Amino acid sequence: MSSLLLLFFLLCTTTSPSSSSPSTNKNEAETPKTFIIKVQYDAKPSIFPTHKHWYESSLSSASATLLHTYDTVFHGFSAKLTPSEALRLKTLPHVLAVFSEQVRHLHTTRSPQFLGLKSSSDSAGLLLKESDFGSDLVIGVIDTGVWPERQSFNDRDLGPVPRKWKGQCVTTNDFPATSCNRKLIGARFFSQGYESTNGKMNETTEFRSPRDSDGHGTHTASIAAGSAVSDGVDVVSLSVGGVVVPYFLDAIAIAAFGASDHGVFVSASAGNGGPGGLTVTNVAPWVTTVGAGTIDRDFPADVHLGNGKIIPGVSVYSGPGLKKDQMYSLVYAGSESGDGYSASLCLEGSLDPAFVRGKIVVCDRGINSRPAKGEVVKKAGGVGMILANGVFDGEGLVADCHVLPATSVGAASGDEIRKYIMSAEKSKSPATATIVFKGTRVNVRPAPVVASFSARGPNPETPEILKPDVIAPGLNILAAWPDKVGPSGIPTDKRKTEFNILSGTSMACPHVSGLAALLKAAHPDWSPAAIRSALMTTAYTVDNRGETMIDESTGNTSTALDFGAGHVHPQKAMNPGLIYDLTSYDYVNFLCNSNYTVNNIQVITRRKADCSGATRAGHVGNLNYPSLSAVFQQYGKHKMSTHFIRTVTNVGDPNSAYKVTIRPPSGMTVTVQPEKLVFRRVGQKLNFLVRVEATAVKLSPGSSSMKSGKIVWSDGKHNVTSPIVVTMQQPL
Ligand SMILES: *[C@@H]1O[C@H](CO)[C@@H](O)[C@H](O)[C@H]1NC(C)=O
Ligand SMILES: *[C@@H]1O[C@H](CO)[C@@H](O)[C@H](O)[C@H]1NC(C)=O
Ligand SMILES: *[C@@H]1O[C@H](CO)[C@@H](O)[C@H](O)[C@H]1NC(C)=O
Ligand SMILES: *[C@@H]1O[C@H](CO)[C@@H](O)[C@H](O)[C@H]1NC(C)=O
Repeated sequence: MSSLLLLFFLLCTTTSPSSSSPSTNKNEAETPKTFIIKVQYDAKPSIFPTHKHWYESSLSSASATLLHTYDTVFHGFSAKLTPSEALRLKTLPHVLAVFSEQVRHLHTTRSPQFLGLKSSSDSAGLLLKESDFGSDLVIGVIDTGVWPERQSFNDRDLGPVPRKWKGQCVTTNDFPATSCNRKLIGARFFSQGYESTNGKMNETTEFRSPRDSDGHGTHTASIAAGSAVSDGVDVVSLSVGGVVVPYFLDAIAIAAFGASDHGVFVSASAGNGGPGGLTVTNVAPWVTTVGAGTIDRDFPADVHLGNGKIIPGVSVYSGPGLKKDQMYSLVYAGSESGDGYSASLCLEGSLDPAFVRGKIVVCDRGINSRPAKGEVVKKAGGVGMILANGVFDGEGLVADCHVLPATSVGAASGDEIRKYIMSAEKSKSPATATIVFKGTRVNVRPAPVVASFSARGPNPETPEILKPDVIAPGLNILAAWPDKVGPSGIPTDKRKTEFNILSGTSMACPHVSGLAALLKAAHPDWSPAAIRSALMTTAYTVDNRGETMIDESTGNTSTALDFGAGHVHPQKAMNPGLIYDLTSYDYVNFLCNSNYTVNNIQVITRRKADCSGATRAGHVGNLNYPSLSAVFQQYGKHKMSTHFIRTVTNVGDPNSAYKVTIRPPSGMTVTVQPEKLVFRRVGQKLNFLVRVEATAVKLSPGSSSMKSGKIVWSDGKHNVTSPIVVTMQQPL
C-alpha cells in the first residue's frame, strides 16, 4: 500500500492585513506590484523557444521582472509591474487577463493547546478506519508550510512514490532533502511574489523554505494525510481565501477550475467571517466549500463568582492552577481610569499593575489575539483572566492555550460578570471569583453545532448556488504542530508540543479533503462533482439530541445558509445511491447563464467558450448541483415560480426504484416530476424537474427572507437528500 502526500505551499499568506505597509510616496500609483498574467497558451510565436522567453519578451520595460511562469492549471506568468505596465499588457491580443496579487488570509482562528497527546483527533480516526484502499493518491495542500519531522509524516510501511508525481522537493539549509519522503513526497515554497511586493521575508519569524514557521500548514497537512490517515488522492485542499470577486478575477477560482477540469477534487475553507450573513468565500461552483462545526468534545473551565453563581467557560490552559478553595479579587480591566477602551481589551501596556496585581482580570475580546491578552494580564501581575465575548462574537467559545489560568465566556455571561463587579463595588464588598478547570469532556451535547466563526451564506457571487456546501469538524481540532511555534502562537511562548489544538474553517477543509481522497480511492471513476454530491446528499442536519443543529453564536436553530447540505457523514458518503454529476461543459453553461462574456469565460476555462448550448439550460440554477436555491424578486408580483432540471446517475444497485419525498419550505409549493425513478443499470442517468411556487410575503424595501425545505429520493436503502432554499427579496 502506498500513501502519499503532495504539499504545495504558499508562504506568502499572512495573518495580518497590516503586512503591506501603507506608502506615503506621491508616486504610489506607479509603485510596482505583483501581477498574475494569464495568456492564451497556443498563441506563442514559433520564434520563441519556450513560453518563458515569450513572456519575458512581452515585458518591455526594464523595471518589469518576471517572477514565475505557470503551466499546469493555467498558462501565464507573474511579474512585478507598475500599474501602467499592467494596463499595457492587458491590451496585448494574447493576454487573457491581468490581475494584481492579493495577500491571502489564513482561515484559522488560533486556539492552540499544550496537550502532549499521541492520538489523532476523533474525527480523523473515523476516516482512518475507512482507509483500506491501496492506490497512488496525492493530496495537495496550499497553506503556510510544513514541519516535516512530525510523526504524522512518517513514511514507514509506504510504497514508492508514484511515477506520475512530477513535483519537486525544494531543499534549503533548514529543509534538507531528507525532509521529503514517501509520504511527504514534495514541498515547494512560493515566496517570490510576496517578497517582491512586500519586501524580503523576515527570516527571524519565517523560514525561506517550505518549513512552516506559522504552524498553520503543519496542522492542516497532518489533518489531511497525517500518520495512519492513509491514501490521499488527487485532491487539493485550499485553506486560504480572499474577498469574493467575479470568478474570472479570482486567481484561486481560476486555478481550481483548471484542477477540477483535470479531475482533481478541490475543497476550500468557507472562511472565518461568521456569524454574519454573506460572509462565505471560495464560492465557485467547481469548488467544494467547507464550513466548520463543533465536535462532541470540549474543555470546560467554569468561573465561580463570589455571589455563588457559576458561569460556564472553556479553556485548554493546563499549567499550574489557581489555589484550590481560594477566591481572588475580580476586576474589569475597562473600569480602570485612563484609556478605558484599550484597557477593556487588555491591549499591550494598557493595564496598571497597581490595579490588577494579584487579581483575576476580565478582558473583552477584540483587536489583539486572545492569548496575547493573557500575556498582558500576566505581565501586569494579574493571576488569572476571564475573556468575555463581545456582542458580535455571541456565545461561541474557542478554547485557547493561555499562558496563565484563563477561560473564555460568552457575551451574555460577560455582561453578567461585569454587572456583578459593578454592584459589588456599590455595596463596598469587593467582587471575587476563581476559575475551575475541568479538563476534557467528551460526549458533549448538543454536537455538532455550527461554529460561530464559520462563514455563512447567502453566496455573494451567485445566490442561486447554495454555499457553503457542507460543514465538517473545525473547532478545537487536535493535529500536528511545529516546534518553532509555542502552542499559544505568541512569540514569547517557548513551549514545544507535538500536537496542538486549532479552530477555523481551514481545519474543517482538510477533513473533507481526506474524506474526498478516500471516496476517490473507493470510486476511482468518480468526478470531483460526484464526490461532492456524495458528501452533500448524505450529510446530516440533526445533532446528537436528534434536533436540527444549532448555531453556536445564537443558540438558535441553524439553517442551510449556515451548514449548506449539512455535516459530512463519512460512512454514508461511501455509498450514496445516486449522484448529481457535472462536467466542465456544465460549468461553461453555468458561466454563460451568469452572463459572463466569452472572453471572461475563456480566462477561466482556457478554451473558446460556446454559449449557444447554454440557452436551453435557461438559468444558473439549472447547473446540476446537489442543492437547489431560488431567488425571487417581489416586483409587486403576488405569485412567483421557477423550476430546476436535475439529472441523477445511479451508482447503487443496478435495479433500483427511487421515490421522492418533498418537504417544501413553509408556505410554498414544491412539485417533482416524475415522482418515481426506475433504474435498470449502474451508470444510468434519469432526469426530473422540480417546480417551486411562492406567494409574495410582506417585506420592507431592500430586505429579504429565507425559507428552506428539502427533497429526498429514497429506494429504501439510500436517502439522497437535497436542500431547497428560497429567498424572497423586496427591491428598494
Ligand atoms: C524580524 O522579526 C523580529 C521578531 O519579531 C524583530 O525583532 C526584527 O526587528 C524583525 N526584523 C526586521 C528586519 O523587520
Ligand atoms: C433566536 O430565536 C429567538 C426566538 O425565535 C428570537 O427572538 C431571536 O431574535 C433569535 N436570535 C437571533 C440572534 O436570531
Ligand atoms: C442574464 O441576462 C438575462 C437577460 O438580460 C437575465 O434575464 C438574467 O437574469 C441574467 N442572469 C444573471 C445571472 O444575471
Ligand atoms: C431514510 O430516511 C427515513 C426518514 O427520515 C428514515 O426513517 C430511514 O431510516 C432512512 N433510511 C436510510 C437508509 O438512511
